[in-house]
Amino acid sequence: MFKQNILAEKTILITGGGSGLGLSMARRFAQLGANIAICGRTQSRLDRAKKELDQIGKKVFTYSVDVRDYDRLGEMIEKIVAHFGALDSLLNNAAGNFLSPAEDISPNGFKTIIDIVLQGSFNCTHHFGNYLIRGKKHGSILNIVTTYASLGSAFVLPSACAKAGVLTMTKSLAAEWAVYGIRVNAIAPGAFPTEGAWSRLMPDPKMEEMYLKKIPAGRYGEHIELANLATFLLSDLAPFITGECVTIDGGESLQGGQFNFLTQLIPRNLLRQMAKAMRKTQNE
Ligand code: HXC
Repeated sequence: MFKQNILAEKTILITGGGSGLGLSMARRFAQLGANIAICGRTQSRLDRAKKELDQIGKKVFTYSVDVRDYDRLGEMIEKIVAHFGALDSLLNNAAGNFLSPAEDISPNGFKTIIDIVLQGSFNCTHHFGNYLIRGKKHGSILNIVTTYASLGSAFVLPSACAKAGVLTMTKSLAAEWAVYGIRVNAIAPGAFPTEGAWSRLMPDPKMEEMYLKKIPAGRYGEHIELANLATFLLSDLAPFITGECVTIDGGESLQGGQFNFLTQLIPRNLLRQMAKAMRKTQNE
């Protein structure tokens, strides 16, 4: 899909890059020639990721930090710039989430997710944006949201509210910072299984079975599919795209279509026969 050196001149910071989707995207960016900086809360996880990513090419920069810690994030950006000479892109991927009936969530539970997802994305974006603006540099920001950022969703209220905020931040900053040559986009992934998200959100195999049925494509997403989309949006292949949120979910979020339920209810052949019979009577 891409030339092997498409990201060769780029340094990319991936928050929550030590595991899951963040690591998969970091791996892809590294394969395509980027300098990689990853941050996360757990040093041992970052060390493991670094060991793997270092094999691909250039040495990876790691920094142990919580995205809720505004001051340390500022120090991190300075260190990345000192290490690589520049920072071109930020991927806001770090997140927190849990499945819970809304009535059982404590105020601190709600605040915790908002602080990680919304405030955390702001914290990183604010430091990175100021770094670019001060230095009169162009750059790109990519925010990982979810399809329920615009649709809403039961049982993940804090995450839905926080991701909706990140989506609005994406569009607001795209409008405000285009003048500085800073692009801000988002990706709304559907179901891309990871250990972290799945243990929190799909505790029961039966639930997973049911979930799969609501994806028209009939399967989960593969990490490489998300990583390729992220590459495109962050790279110089998309210089005129800003404020956009691209959904990648195998059609899952289209399930609101009025007659979509028929895909589950009636086998395809029977449906075709029924439609044919109806057409006959309608034409009589
Ligand atoms: C209800 C919960 C809870 C749960 C924690 N809390 N887990 N409430 N149900 N399962 C409440 C606590 O009781 C506490 O409130 C408050 O949240 C803070 O909890 P802490 O454990 O002290 O917070 P912290 O250590 O900061 O941990 C944050 C965390 C944790 C989000 C709760 O799970 C975490 O670190 N997660 C990071 C990784 C992650 O979540 N990955 C999944 C992302 S997937 P009280 O009132 O008791 O003090 C994703 C993709 C979405 O977002 C799309 C999927 C299709």
